[in-house]
Amino acid sequence: MKHNSATKISIIKNASLFSGFNEREICALADISVRKECPKDAVLIREGEKQTSLCLLMSGKAHAASIGPDGKKIIYNTFIPGDYFGEMSFVDKEPRCATVEMTEPGEVLMIHGDKLRDMMCSNADFMFTLTKGLLQKLRKATRQIEDLEFVIGHQVLHDAHLDTIKRLVLAAECKDDNTADHVIRVGRYSALIAKKLGLSDKVVKNICYAAPMHDIGKIGIPKQILLKPGKLTPQEFELMKTHTTIGAKILRNPQSDILRAAHDIALSHHEKFNGKGYPKALVGDKIPVEARIVALVDAFDTIVSERPYKKAVPSEKAFDIIRKERGEHFDPDLVDVFMENTADILEIKKVFSCDEETLWDEFESWM
Ligand SMILES: [Fe+2]
Ligand SMILES: [Fe+2]
Repeated sequence: MKHNSATKISIIKNASLFSGFNEREICALADISVRKECPKDAVLIREGEKQTSLCLLMSGKAHAASIGPDGKKIIYNTFIPGDYFGEMSFVDKEPRCATVEMTEPGEVLMIHGDKLRDMMCSNADFMFTLTKGLLQKLRKATRQIEDLEFVIGHQVLHDAHLDTIKRLVLAAECKDDNTADHVIRVGRYSALIAKKLGLSDKVVKNICYAAPMHDIGKIGIPKQILLKPGKLTPQEFELMKTHTTIGAKILRNPQSDILRAAHDIALSHHEKFNGKGYPKALVGDKIPVEARIVALVDAFDTIVSERPYKKAVPSEKAFDIIRKERGEHFDPDLVDVFMENTADILEIKKVFSCDEETLWDEFESWM
């Protein structure tokens, strides 16, 4: 019994919560406290019930949790030896707002709320220490709520954004012979090249979402031209070229970085590094980097894919074609980065060649 009391005194002494207590008060606390062995999953405080004791975790681990509106458990806090909980038991008599349960077996020192309240009222230092502890917990909880609100808000926006992009891309696909796998691969290849170029994570993400919209302007091109099996006449080709400016019109006045990138890509993905592209015959780095990247990977994916009017070309042959266009059609630096990463390019080609729904899931899960 004596040993038990000595252990309790030493635990209370080491607890930050009781740092304002003198020897006599610590002994008095030890007298009113009870040690309790707790197996894993033991419930120490139950949500909705009126808890009457403050608990000091001596060993093991515990967490405070609640069941969310979707039926899933939300963990608010995790406790390790030295932490305390249930301190509200002597501040108010309201039902507890979370359940605290042991996640690892251990031991808890329990101090009855009524007795503690009496001691608290006669000890200003203790009152100060406890108030400080409560304020720290409140600050931490507020920060967690703010973080959570930011994450949830950001996620909702992000999902809405992606959904819009998906619908825009699908609208363009309805008219074109391209398939979802092509535009998704273009997004993934572009993100890879942007990352290897050392562009920021934000730019990498933006290009990944924006690049699938490169041919969005084809919505405005007549179907008989888009799906014509043979070569286009010069007049038809002139009309086809306008898919760049139509795309830019659809994406004008962008309200986000992704749409800004999408605008630049839609307008300039047929520009050539040597200035022989369209619609503006821009030269070199006058072409936005996102559009230079998409020009390269879009060409690669088109070459290696089968289309109603052509057979798929083997990857090695496609790499040769791209090498030959180094500094002509394509930015030489980008060709170098592309060639250094052909293994990853081929991996993307393999992964993103499945049915449409799986593709979009893969696309999102890779972000
Ligand atoms: Fe295009
Ligand atoms: Fe394309």
